[in-house]
Amino acid sequence: MIARDGSCISLWQDTAEEYQTQNNELKKSFDVAIVGGGITGITTALQLQKAGKNCVVFEAYNLCFGTTGGTTAHLNTLLDNPYNIIINKFGKENAQLVAQSTKDSIELIRSNIEEYNIDCGFQNASAYLYAQDDKQVKELEDIHDACREVNVKAVYQENLPINIDYKKVMRVDGQAKFHPVKYVHALAKAFEEIGGVILQQCRVLDIKENGIINIVTEKGNFQSQYLIYATHIPTGINLLHLRCAPYRSYAMAVTLKNKNYPEDLFYDMYDPYHYIRSQQIKDQTYLIVGAEDHKTGHIENTDECFSKLEAYVKKYFDVDEVVNKWSSQYFEPADALPYIGHLPGHKENILVATGYGGNGMTYSHVAALTLKSIVLNEDNPYIKLYDPNRIKPVAGFVSFLSHNADVARMFVGKWFTHEKLKELEDIAPGEGKVVRFEGETIALHKDKEGKLHALKPTCTHMKCSVAWNNAEQSWDCPCHGARYNISGYVVTGPANMQLQKIEVKELLESTKH
Ligand code: FES
Repeated sequence: MIARDGSCISLWQDTAEEYQTQNNELKKSFDVAIVGGGITGITTALQLQKAGKNCVVFEAYNLCFGTTGGTTAHLNTLLDNPYNIIINKFGKENAQLVAQSTKDSIELIRSNIEEYNIDCGFQNASAYLYAQDDKQVKELEDIHDACREVNVKAVYQENLPINIDYKKVMRVDGQAKFHPVKYVHALAKAFEEIGGVILQQCRVLDIKENGIINIVTEKGNFQSQYLIYATHIPTGINLLHLRCAPYRSYAMAVTLKNKNYPEDLFYDMYDPYHYIRSQQIKDQTYLIVGAEDHKTGHIENTDECFSKLEAYVKKYFDVDEVVNKWSSQYFEPADALPYIGHLPGHKENILVATGYGGNGMTYSHVAALTLKSIVLNEDNPYIKLYDPNRIKPVAGFVSFLSHNADVARMFVGKWFTHEKLKELEDIAPGEGKVVRFEGETIALHKDKEGKLHALKPTCTHMKCSVAWNNAEQSWDCPCHGARYNISGYVVTGPANMQLQKIEVKELLESTKH
């Protein structure tokens, strides 16, 4: 099993072994340094190493520790932010480019699997989008028409091949699914075999941009011509933190008594929507269902999200056993497209890929193709299309502003109730609360053995107050999505420093005086 950024165990981490690096001779100077060992980092590293660049990947934990280990791994040209929205914001030609980039992405995955003979359960599939009321039918028709405008072949279909009520159904072929961790581990091996270097358990602590980039890590100092943040959101304080909103989504892998596993990918049209697919791993097939998305840090009782999801799955499927349930984080961009390219406010050789929304697996390879072209100085229309410095269409700022209004509330600390420490005994084992005590605000967690862990709840990124995530046993920041484990260590950026610890014993003793 691999480790991941939460206490719930995903199907992927449960069915993969930790990646063992091949200990390539440790150089100190590279052409390209990539921060983050998820699907974006490893795919980009392999692309560049194959093109003759010397690359290093720094990963703070283990490969696939972040969202790659928690995705549900749908490979789509049918996107979460539909093409009618993209046409509206960026025009038809650009929307056609977006569609082409997603096709190129899936093609690159296919060719990697073939070239490296990767056993990752990759399977072609169709996507079904289904409307369940009149309003959704209208939306579905708009999406259908827009798909056809951007050359994504959508067709109406009489029946939905799963037992869920529907009013209208649309199908898009040419999608796919796979085991993301097995895929990434195979690419990592291929990358190392041609001289690439992977350093796991190696957090990047500081970056100094002076033409050549000096990188300070837990395993020493390095130099590089380029640096790519493939950390899902870059560390530090950046414009992109205002243009991306962090969300959590919930997933469940179950076995079915009737073994009637659907082969394809299914999406309803609620907000948040439900997504359904299956995956065979060795001799066992699993049904994977996801939903219940919410902004990170905005729901305290995250267990309830799993309860609702389980009720949904059991309503429509003949569930035998719930094998895994887990949640994962994604970043929604302000204007419907990811940010891939030069990191705003930094030197030209600092690059980033973020804001994938719910299509991270697909956009990871769009990022790899785009970033490769930037580093190699190749012409590529995706460079302009996904440029993080692009001027937003005005409409993009609506969600941007409403998200940042939430962020402002977090700073003044009025979102979550602060309870008195006298209620400390009310905290059940496994629970956490932000409490007030002697004029101090404390993030307090009681572990399963009843031991208390106390931290300053002030996020080390930009000082918002963190909130407890019951399901994943983590402290989550509602502002830009940083997450910390119960000991206060960062498990998800953009924060780079741990929460300040408070000695619980001292704190209790101080009440006696
Ligand atoms: Fe930005 Fe916490 S992640 S303030």
